Amino acid sequence: MSKVLYIKGNAQLEEKSKSLQVGKIFLNEYKGANPEDEIIEIDLYEDNIPMLDKEVFNAWDSLAKGEAFESLSESQKNKIIRLGEIVDEFMEADKYVFVTPLWNFSIPPMVKAYIDAICIAGKTFKYTENGPVGLLKGKKLLNIQASGTKFSETPIENLEHGSNYIKVVSNFVGIEDVSVFHVEGIAQNPDRAEEIFDKAKADVVAVAKNF
Ligand SMILES: Cc1cc2nc3c(=O)[nH]c(=O)nc-3n(C[C@H](O)[C@H](O)[C@H](O)COP(=O)(O)O)c2cc1C
Repeated sequence: MSKVLYIKGNAQLEEKSKSLQVGKIFLNEYKGANPEDEIIEIDLYEDNIPMLDKEVFNAWDSLAKGEAFESLSESQKNKIIRLGEIVDEFMEADKYVFVTPLWNFSIPPMVKAYIDAICIAGKTFKYTENGPVGLLKGKKLLNIQASGTKFSETPIENLEHGSNYIKVVSNFVGIEDVSVFHVEGIAQNPDRAEEIFDKAKADVVAVAKNF
């Protein structure tokens, strides 16, 4: 039995979102193929994902100096507790499915906030004399990414820092089995929009059964 985090990183309504609709098909198929798995759904635009801000950095400094947790403000305590919950939940999972749109060449800001919460030295990676080493081993990750432009067959690297970035961060924390399912090229080919979307909805079924 695996623990799966299904992580939605899109502010858009599901009925208007290509990635969320394809993601939903993926999730239903996955559940059917893996009825024993525990699936935790995270909505980065609904759930409490604290930003790394002054309060958080000051709290981390205070704690590093040995000051008591009780000495923090209520707001600092809440953020520190929540950030701890987020990284612990990430560490306990076996598989991850991100659902993201490409926004201005990159991931949406709440996905970045989540990544900032899960890249924690001593938990998901550690520093060694030879550089940082990822601590999450034997896990796998899929990013279902929708983009207006098609990137998968002819990568245009300077224009795609979404799934490429998620792959870099995943590898950094030790996750080596990383793949991308693209829902792509609809804005580029509006006359083929339906065909492209239908194909993505059909193709994701096999991906879900084999994930
Ligand atoms: C704010 C914003 C920025 C976008 N930037 C890009 C971009 O840099 N590259 C691209 O190929 N498509 C871009 N698009 C198009 C989206 O990636 C495309 O519409 C995709 O389907 C969005 O995902 P969704 O349908 O799941 O919401 C952008 C769309 C929005 C709303």
